[in-house]
Amino acid sequence: MIDLHSHALPQIDDGAKNVEISIKMLCESFSQGVELCALTPHCVLHKTDSLEKFLKARKESFELLQEKISQTNLSVPQFRLGAEVYFDNDISQYDGIEKLCIEGTNLLLVEFPMRNVNRKSYDWLYSLTLKGIRPLIAHVDRYQCYESFISDFSDLDVAYQLNAENFLSFWARRHIKKILKYDENFIVSSDMHNLEDRPCNMAAAFLRAEKMLGTVKAKRLFEKNAADLLSI
Ligand SMILES: [Fe+2]
Repeated sequence: MIDLHSHALPQIDDGAKNVEISIKMLCESFSQGVELCALTPHCVLHKTDSLEKFLKARKESFELLQEKISQTNLSVPQFRLGAEVYFDNDISQYDGIEKLCIEGTNLLLVEFPMRNVNRKSYDWLYSLTLKGIRPLIAHVDRYQCYESFISDFSDLDVAYQLNAENFLSFWARRHIKKILKYDENFIVSSDMHNLEDRPCNMAAAFLRAEKMLGTVKAKRLFEKNAADLLSI
């Protein structure tokens, strides 16, 4: 499986509190069958982070993680650095915004504010695509207006990410079924933050998805569509 949304980098956001927890999260992820994991810490550009400050903090966090992993013989997924960028303004205007794309791609994971999606959102997404960036909308299942997202953005080259936890409860599965009817470019990722209440749950979610949708569709959601987005 491929996981393109995680908060497993240590000490950078509300994800892994320290590097020991990071390593446990990533070992768990690998043991569940995740072979490639994008490390996508939150990035709020106009508030606490300047882009360069964020990149520096991410680099330091990643170096710490790599150093500690190299001292063990533990198995972890391959990594791609990325970010989950808060999308409450026209982030295309920031010089170097492409540096936040998932490493080696033009895919930018973006998170809308929960209650403040408006018509400008379309313009902001369009501006990103003009820069050659392909927006990947984080946990689209969270937004009540997901239907208008999907119809409004249908002429843009946009992909959608769903959180794996949705496959693990009856009501969330009903919700997900409605979203999947749109047959857009969906991927499922963990959005893992820790080992307790927001852990990696890709294996359990895959099994549920397989029962719900069949093996071929489940594999598309948990691996193939993400591999296509990464061109691997
Ligand atoms: Fe996230």
